[in-house]
Amino acid sequence: MSDEAKIAALNKSASNRAVSGMRPTGALHLGHYFGAIKNWVEMQKEMETFFFVADWHALTSEYENARHIQDFVPEMVKDWLAAGLDPEKSVIYRQSHIKELAELHLILSMISPVSWLERCPTYKEQLQQLSHKDLGTYGFLGYPVLMTSDIIMFRPRWVPVGQDQVPHLEMSREICRRFNNFYGEFFPEPEARLTPQAKCPGLDGRKMSKSYGNSIQLSESMESITPKIRGMFTDPARLRRSDPGDPDKCNLFPYHELLTGMEQQKEIREGCTSASLGCVDCKAILLKGLEAFLAPLHERRAVYDAEPKKVWEVLEAGDERARAEARKTREGVRTRIGF
Ligand code: TRP
Repeated sequence: MSDEAKIAALNKSASNRAVSGMRPTGALHLGHYFGAIKNWVEMQKEMETFFFVADWHALTSEYENARHIQDFVPEMVKDWLAAGLDPEKSVIYRQSHIKELAELHLILSMISPVSWLERCPTYKEQLQQLSHKDLGTYGFLGYPVLMTSDIIMFRPRWVPVGQDQVPHLEMSREICRRFNNFYGEFFPEPEARLTPQAKCPGLDGRKMSKSYGNSIQLSESMESITPKIRGMFTDPARLRRSDPGDPDKCNLFPYHELLTGMEQQKEIREGCTSASLGCVDCKAILLKGLEAFLAPLHERRAVYDAEPKKVWEVLEAGDERARAEARKTREGVRTRIGF
């Protein structure tokens, strides 16, 4: 087969593929689930999916606490598996175990203009927001180059990400185009596949985040969740049980939108606005819904908690499969650049 035919075959084989990753930051919460993982679980049914632990990416901002990063890896992967990622369907692997990614990152770094990186809106934003950390490093500036390597290594059509990652993906497309211009058409341009905008705010209505203390972990027990839900603020104007409420001003209602069936949601809305349903009962309905939603996750998680070895087996098998794919790309890249 000619080089051109080989490259065409390589890309055809990946034409219905998606790749995405997540930095290991510890136990996942409902925000992660509704913002990303739920979409991943859906996608693995329709296409070939590669999901990885972006542990090198965690190092860009956590290099001073590098030791903790690896402790978060099995915890996060357990949550993925509990949430329904299926290692039979998806390739689940660690970025840092695919050394071909580092080589591709190096090559891409040669063609990535510094001015693009400095202009990246997330770069400027993070420098300001995380001013307590020294992010004036080469690696942090190059975050989108490494991300480009993660993606195009597997030549996917799709990259499921949230809105916040769109500037990165735009840059990946540009770097990818630049490679193709210099060395000949090789990498297909990946497209963002935005997670349907599910709003899963924190218990206090702000963005759900572990650091705000307003989150519900996927692995959390009902004993721990129940008092949190009971303590939530509902419509602040509904002072008495007999006052009508407004679900759109209530911190609880967004969770009904995620977890309660359409029919019952309508009843709750009517019950609230007519004061026939009180907040205590409304919370009890949500707690039931949460329990039903979490039960299968906890059941699946228990299997891995009892036998942590299984998590490592999933990762080792995934690393192996990802490496096999990465080697093919590496060969193509070397052909293209004449090395
Ligand atoms: N930057 C992503 C985030 O913070 C994580 C990530 C790294 C990623 N590499 C990726 C996502 C490649 C998609 C594809 O969420």
